[in-house]
Amino acid sequence: MSETAKLIFGDKTIEMPVITGSEGEKALDISRLRGDTGLITMDDGYMNTGSCTSNVTFLDGEKGILRYRGYPIEQLAEKATFLEVSYLLIYGELPDKEQFEIFRNNVVRHTMIHEDLKRLYDGFPKDSHPMAILSSMICTLSGYYNDSSDPLNPRHREISMTRLLSKTPTIAAYSHKKSIGQPFVYPRNSLSYVGNFLNMMFSVPAEDYEVDPLVEKALDLLLILHADHEQNCSTSTVRLVGSSRANLYATIASGICALWGPLHGGANQAVIDMLEIIRDEGGDVNKFVQLAKDKNSTFRLMGFGHRVYKNFDPRAVIIKKACDDVLRKMGKQDPLLDIARKLEEAALTDSYFVDRKLYPNVDFYSGIIYRAIGIPTEMFTVMFAMGRMPGWIAQWKEMIENPNTKIGRPRQVFTGAQSRNYVEMGKR
Ligand code: ACO
Repeated sequence: MSETAKLIFGDKTIEMPVITGSEGEKALDISRLRGDTGLITMDDGYMNTGSCTSNVTFLDGEKGILRYRGYPIEQLAEKATFLEVSYLLIYGELPDKEQFEIFRNNVVRHTMIHEDLKRLYDGFPKDSHPMAILSSMICTLSGYYNDSSDPLNPRHREISMTRLLSKTPTIAAYSHKKSIGQPFVYPRNSLSYVGNFLNMMFSVPAEDYEVDPLVEKALDLLLILHADHEQNCSTSTVRLVGSSRANLYATIASGICALWGPLHGGANQAVIDMLEIIRDEGGDVNKFVQLAKDKNSTFRLMGFGHRVYKNFDPRAVIIKKACDDVLRKMGKQDPLLDIARKLEEAALTDSYFVDRKLYPNVDFYSGIIYRAIGIPTEMFTVMFAMGRMPGWIAQWKEMIENPNTKIGRPRQVFTGAQSRNYVEMGKR
């Protein structure tokens, strides 16, 4: 027999079904609440609110578990490639050889962007943040594919998803080239997904450039770790905007904007900014731990804490190890890594952080790897967006293909002025 929960309100008792997920998570189905009682729910920050059922990604914040389509992140990080993971997220299963080749060829065939779109870069000031460029360019793609961006048309969906995966690295690399005044480098489809991106970022016409396999692997790993994270702020934005049946380019552009904020994906840039300040002020990590605890200060330890993970972030564990490996193999030393380690140690032994279950998240060490491989700080959140692209696409696809999807439209409790009469300007 299916479980129910009872709610007593006034003289009414209503029964609400309990929905159980495949990992035993339970949710109260309140879809009849307003109709039966006139009540709505209030839940600041959606701390207790499920917005959908989903088959894509499972995470257990207490146990530090993250799985894409059932596969543990640790296994995917060790064995898979980012394109393979992208296929898995979008289509639900790991591809066989033939499926993968078709997918890879499709992605590879669409890497160039329209020559006219390149001219748009000229409209941005040299010091534009690359996230401003990325979000604008991704949205602008809808102008170029007007005839094939109907979200209800399966063929249009397929081509839009492919174009986004293919063109995002090109658009991202061009935003970097724009900022340093170097010529754009056309994509090279003989290279891997990540190799092609690195070539577009770092090669110049005047010199030969060879992709370093170590850098290629490190970046591929980072993209895998960022590929999806169930209903976070940017993914929920993608689902919400997509539910209005906006085209996929516009929908993903809104997700990119949500990711930009420093409490979300923008934290990776904020971590490095913070570590640099600590370094410049003499490297006293304890001073900054104290500041983060001070309720009169708005300072927080960036890269620390997570809405869902209350034990450890499994991505951070993998990234910390990768960070040590990459720097050692590259023979690089980064004083910011030492500061990061000290800061982590100081915070993890401080009761403020222990009691609130605040641990390093995915963003804490990722920036050190990006720095080591030459990616400028302002590009870090763009890297996150590149990694998250298949996740946003997969979540959008699941939402738009579900015949029961309704437009997302929360309610409110109004607390403003009650009805009053308009007063002429001279009489106010
Ligand atoms: N430094 C200091 N104190 C913190 C931090 C932090 N990084 N994070 C949370 N706290 C404190 C809060 O002040 C609060 O304390 P209180 O109970 O005394 O009021 C308590 O811990 C709970 O914090 P909330 O802000 O209520 O937790 P929430 O789940 O809303 O926020 C968030 C999660 C936004 C990630 C938060 O931990 C934070 O701001 N971290 C820093 C930014 C960051 O690294 N963001 C990246 C997250 S991962 C991602 O999006 C990819």
